[in-house]
Order: sequence, then structure tokens, then C-alpha cells
Amino acid sequence: MKIDVMVANENHLCFVTQINDAIDEAAKQRGTGIARRTDEYIADKITSGKAIIAVNRNEFVGFCYIESWGHDEFVANSGLIVRPQYRGMGVAKRIKQAAFDLSRKRFPNAKLFGLTTGEAVMRINTALGYEPVTFAKLTDDEAFWAGCQSCVNYDVLQRTNMTKCLCTGMIYDPEKVAKRKAQEEAAKAEAAKKKSFWSRLFGK
Ligand SMILES: CC(C)(COP(=O)(O)OP(=O)(O)OC[C@H]1O[C@@H](n2cnc3c(N)ncnc32)[C@H](O)[C@@H]1OP(=O)(O)O)[C@@H](O)C(=O)NCCC(=O)NCCS
Repeated sequence: MKIDVMVANENHLCFVTQINDAIDEAAKQRGTGIARRTDEYIADKITSGKAIIAVNRNEFVGFCYIESWGHDEFVANSGLIVRPQYRGMGVAKRIKQAAFDLSRKRFPNAKLFGLTTGEAVMRINTALGYEPVTFAKLTDDEAFWAGCQSCVNYDVLQRTNMTKCLCTGMIYDPEKVAKRKAQEEAAKAEAAKKKSFWSRLFGK
């Protein structure tokens, strides 16, 4: 088995129905929130270079797409699916890393976000630097939230006036991450400076 993960292109349009069927099947099994998209929507993601696909030679393995919202202020990674026979092998991790890299390259200033009820995705997102947040910190672009209408839990979102649902919102804020990294670097430099002072003093 050789699973390749890449930015999807026209050669992968043949997988559109399989992708949507796999998403449907998973939504039915979990009885929770994976919103179905039309075949045209998935095809558009593929032709516009905004989708990641995993294949095992000519077989479809997994998928995910990116979408920008709120005038490119936010980018969501959505529609993550790995076919059941390929789960537990780190494929989702590879797909999400590729989607993360693609999002950062195409929308370097955007905050990346996602909604999920799944522990696997929470773990992957956390490893990528995402943090859990309330829905108020996510995009207020109505077109994004309209995408939740095809989820079985949409009534919950409506009842809470679009403020909460079963999904956890997670966000990667590049500005915040850069600030955190700079602070860590400064703390490391300070610690090294102190260590060097004491070793000069005591010759250790
Ligand atoms: C969720 C899904 C994409 C995970 O795919 P996968 O290829 O099996 O995931 P990976 O093997 O890359 O595992 C990633 C991490 O999640 C963990 N994980 C995988 N499946 C898990 C599960 N069912 N419960 C808890 N943790 C899980 C792995 O241990 C790994 O964690 P680690 O990095 O700390 O070791 C896949 O199960 C799926 O397609 N499910 C149905 C659709 C779905 O739920 N999509 C997400 C919508 S937000």
C-alpha cells in the first residue's frame, strides 16, 4: 500500500461522488455533524486547488477542502473524511497537515478554524497549534453558518441563537502563535544568558 496525499486536481474529479458518499455514510453512522455539500461544490474545490486528497494508487482514500470566509479573514478546513478501511494509519493527520500548509500558503494572514465533534480532529488540530474557542471568536460570515443547515444538529444551533452547538470551534491565529513563539524564544534566550552568567562565575 502506498498512500499519497496531495493538492487535488482535475484528475481527481472522478472521485467526487465517492467523496460525498463517504461523507454521507460517516454522518449517518455518527448521527452528527458533517454537512453534505453538492457534487458541484466538491468539484469546484478540486478544480480551484482548494482540496487535499489521499489516494492509494487509483483508489480514493481521504479528502478535505479549504474555504475562505469574511473577506479572507478566516479560512476553514472542512469535509475531512478518511474511508473506514484506511482509518487509524495517520492519514487524517497527513491530510490536515497538507490542508494547513495550503491554507497558510494561500491565505498567510487568515485565522484558520474548524468545527468538530470528533476527538481525532481535536487532537490533530491541537498538534497543529489550534485552540478551542467559543463561536463568537469564529467568522460571523452568514454564508459559513448557512453551511450548517444540512447538519442533523442545526436545530441546536438555531435554538442557541447561533452561539453554540455540539461542535467545538477551534482556531489557529497566526498572530497569536507568532507572539507566543517570540515569547518562548525570549524566555529561552534569557535562560541561556543566566546559565552562561553562572557558569562564567563558577567555571561550570
Ligand atoms: C476522523 C477521521 C478523519 C480520522 O481519520 P484517521 O486517518 O483514522 O486519523 P489518524 O489515524 O490520522 O489519527 C489522528 C489522531 O486521532 C486519533 N484518533 C483516530 N481515530 C480516533 C477516534 N475514533 N477516537 C479518538 N481518537 C482517534 C489518533 O490516535 C491520532 O491521535 P495521535 O496523533 O494523538 O496519535 C476518520 O475517523 C473519519 O473519516 N471519520 C468520519 C468522518 C469525520 O468524523 N470527519 C471529521 C469531521 S470534523
